[in-house]
Amino acid sequence: MTGFAEPSPTQTALLLLGRGSDSDSERGVDCPGDLPPASDPTLLERARVAKEKLGDRLFILGHHYQRDEVIQFADVTGDSFKLAQQAAARPEAEYIVFCGVHFMAESADILTTADQKVVLPDLAAGCSMADMATASQVDQCWADLEASGVADDVLPMTYMNSSAAIKAFVGRHDGVVCTSSNAKRALDWAYERKGKVLFLPDQHLGRNTVVREMGFDLDDCVLYNPFKPNGGLTERELRDAKIILWRGHCSVHGRFTLDCVEEMRRKDPEVNILVHPECKHEVVEAADYVGSTEYIIRALADAEPGSSWAVGTELNLVRRLANEHPDKNISFLDRTVCYCSTMNRIDLPHLVWALEELVEGRVPNVISVEPGEAAAARKALDRMLALP
Ligand code: 13P
Ligand code: SF4
Repeated sequence: MTGFAEPSPTQTALLLLGRGSDSDSERGVDCPGDLPPASDPTLLERARVAKEKLGDRLFILGHHYQRDEVIQFADVTGDSFKLAQQAAARPEAEYIVFCGVHFMAESADILTTADQKVVLPDLAAGCSMADMATASQVDQCWADLEASGVADDVLPMTYMNSSAAIKAFVGRHDGVVCTSSNAKRALDWAYERKGKVLFLPDQHLGRNTVVREMGFDLDDCVLYNPFKPNGGLTERELRDAKIILWRGHCSVHGRFTLDCVEEMRRKDPEVNILVHPECKHEVVEAADYVGSTEYIIRALADAEPGSSWAVGTELNLVRRLANEHPDKNISFLDRTVCYCSTMNRIDLPHLVWALEELVEGRVPNVISVEPGEAAAARKALDRMLALP
């Protein structure tokens, strides 16, 4: 009988472990630290002590999709919009430790002063949606729009969930960043200036916002596929479209289906279905309420005691909300587990390691956007922060 042979590590396996390098990803992939084991019973105390030692020099931001073990140490929690505002509002903090994903930390670096250091406790905390639009693909798309004679009438707009390079592209072309909590306002701003929008990289947020909130038909939207010549679109389709959606999506919110909604309604006809606008259009159409992470939090806080809710967003948040509101029946819309695996990469060992490094005077995992790119991206971010 032959013994068990360890499979030789593939590039993918190494990336899952957060090692190696990946030129196709907006994130870094290496965590150089000597991390404490997750089983170490002193981790909570170590995080508390390190945070106390750093005092006002440290500001910890935590996205709502972070694990409970991490979010408890955040000075401010929020969705990506609130965290961008907060990062910009603390010029006195020397270190911003970002418990979220890479594109959020990049935005924080762009919005903070040159002296402030933004730290991402695990560089492998990327975002698969952000990786679905690379700078060279977007340059090619713009060249296609120019060749089709429509570029002059197009305003590019990118969801926060994109790399700094994409935000810089948008900034250079007089465009704007949006988040799920201000997508409608950003689109209104865009259509006051141009006849068409190129919406990057989340097709669902773009489609759901223009169809549900702005009265567009589905036919007003076309989908640009970066893997096909001319995006898979004819010149006529590009000319007739009111919005050109990039073919990207969130792998977490993309899991919710119409089946999940129907099954929940069969089980409990009184249930309220509440979903994030990154979900597919048919799911959003079948839902009772749709909104950003902050909207979801408010809707559940304001809900009647005893009411039932099935929520279509990331599981760390849904579980936390269910625990915070035991007087309401809050369940998860999907039948299976649906964490954001990259958000979950920031765990207590990584946080402890990053904080203890800072205490020792070493600044680990600094997220630093190249100044030229940062200046262009900042224009697009500032336009978002100034939206009415
Ligand atoms: P918001 O924080 O804007 O709701 O976005 C959700 C998300 O997917 C973050 O990665
Ligand atoms: Fe990216 Fe989706 Fe995870 Fe947000 S939830 S970080 S969009 S993969």
